[in-house]
Amino acid sequence: MRLVVSLGGSVLLGKFPDCSRIGDFAKTLSKLSDEHEIFVVTGGGKVAREYISAIRGFGADNTFCDVAGILVTRLNAMLLISALLSEGCDVSKEVPETFERALELSKLYRVVVMGGTFPGHTTDATSALLAEFVGAEVLLNATNVDGVYEEDPKVNPEARKFEKITARELVEIVARSEFRAGSSNVMDLLAAKVIERSGIKTIIFLGTPENLERVVRGDVSVGTVVEP
Ligand code: UTP
Repeated sequence: MRLVVSLGGSVLLGKFPDCSRIGDFAKTLSKLSDEHEIFVVTGGGKVAREYISAIRGFGADNTFCDVAGILVTRLNAMLLISALLSEGCDVSKEVPETFERALELSKLYRVVVMGGTFPGHTTDATSALLAEFVGAEVLLNATNVDGVYEEDPKVNPEARKFEKITARELVEIVARSEFRAGSSNVMDLLAAKVIERSGIKTIIFLGTPENLERVVRGDVSVGTVVEP
């Protein structure tokens, strides 16, 4: 299977730098790459947020801040690549900056790891666009919540988690919560829209190495399945 895995920065790193956590993800990804062709998109996490807030403090514009964020996501890609190499994994040492290059590298390596691409969105959208571009069978969104809820569970602890939703419903849920200041969103709106238009099967789940393995093996009970 051709898979795209979106590994949020907070998921990959926990607190920075959490080498044992990165090592555990590398072990799992390396094992899975024996059977699957894998693309990973790494997020920026806390380090990206700290850089962005320091840079914004000097009055920089949003695009400038985004570019800084993208550089951190690429540094995180290098961290994961080094851990994968230490596992003997067949991973590209190059961090591609475009989808075209990622596809080219995937012809040479079982695993390709990249960070962000363009300003204006997060790595959720990058991974959805990459999944569309490379024709992945499934997009695995490893995040810091255990699925999609009808409402933000931090605001309403009674909110129900969906086992399954359509891409259209995902767009509606994400768009609704984007308007509420301060609410943490499960995914960015562009990512949800790309998932809807491409019809790619997506699983959103709490990102741990164990859950990643379970989801790839077909046990999707640990998250929410988004179907076309
Ligand atoms: P992230 O994808 O890490 O955003 O990109 P996030 O919302 O902080 O997600 P977590 O916490 O890792 O799960 C970090 C920042 O880099 C810029 C954006 O500013 C984003 O907030 N970025 C990233 C882009 O502008 N374009 C990209 O393709 C990727």
